[in-house]
Amino acid sequence: MSRNNVPVIGAAPQGARDQDSAARAVREMFTSIAPRYDLLNHVLSLNVDRLWWRRTARTFQHILGRSDARVLDLCCGTGDMTFALRRQAGKGTSQIVGADFAHAMLQRAVAKSAALTSSRPGWIEADALALPLPNEHFDLVTSAFGFRNLADYDAGLREIVRVLRPGGECGILDFSEPKGLMGAFYRIYFKEVLPRIGTMISGVRGPYAYLPASVQRFPQPDELLERMKRAGFGEATWTPYTFGIAGLYRGKKG
Ligand SMILES: C[S@@+](CC[C@H](N)C(=O)[O-])C[C@H]1O[C@@H](n2cnc3c(N)ncnc32)[C@H](O)[C@@H]1O
Repeated sequence: MSRNNVPVIGAAPQGARDQDSAARAVREMFTSIAPRYDLLNHVLSLNVDRLWWRRTARTFQHILGRSDARVLDLCCGTGDMTFALRRQAGKGTSQIVGADFAHAMLQRAVAKSAALTSSRPGWIEADALALPLPNEHFDLVTSAFGFRNLADYDAGLREIVRVLRPGGECGILDFSEPKGLMGAFYRIYFKEVLPRIGTMISGVRGPYAYLPASVQRFPQPDELLERMKRAGFGEATWTPYTFGIAGLYRGKKG
């Protein structure tokens, strides 16, 4: 579906005029940093990202432990959230699929999964706003640090609700802006330090200035919870991680 001339009500990289150009800019940005994405992630988060993915996966053990559960990891990038789900599932479900619209990011996920001897996740190249997937198919949909990049948050939530079974759950892990003293440190790190290191390691200007801007633009937890309920989640909660630098939105379709 074309989103040409449709106003951006989600992430808006510099220069984006409408949802099509915003999505294109996001895809190009991740394509350009794909070769260094994993390294940068671990350096810039001081490896805390691994804890966040693991903690999110643990939250959904009651679903992952079921052998019949179907799981979708949206905006999977190079696959680290998907792999955390796969590890947490253990002998439970092997039906885990990662989806992303940046080919270069997915290629890395596929290469990394070659090291797995069994139950490799499936991978699909797809736009989170127009998933080529049936209605009411999944028991769990997750997204780590990807949802914030969508050009239309409400359309993204509606698409998650569409592919979830009744009673299915969703977990959106993303950054937020902490308050108080921690907030002051965070703002200096995120706006001054992180863009410089990111640009230095990736050799690409732009994406690491976009990151703090996209977090600032992302709705506050109360607002996103409201929007989740409007999209069709009967229950919605937010749990802060690491002083509220990140947090997990949980929703249950109902
Ligand atoms: C910050 S990365 C996160 C990757 C991974 N989930 C992680 O935790 O490392 C964001 C990913 O979202 C993907 N993305 C952004 N908008 C998307 C969309 N509309 N459809 C599919 N993928 C999208 C990007 O291509 C990128 O790979």
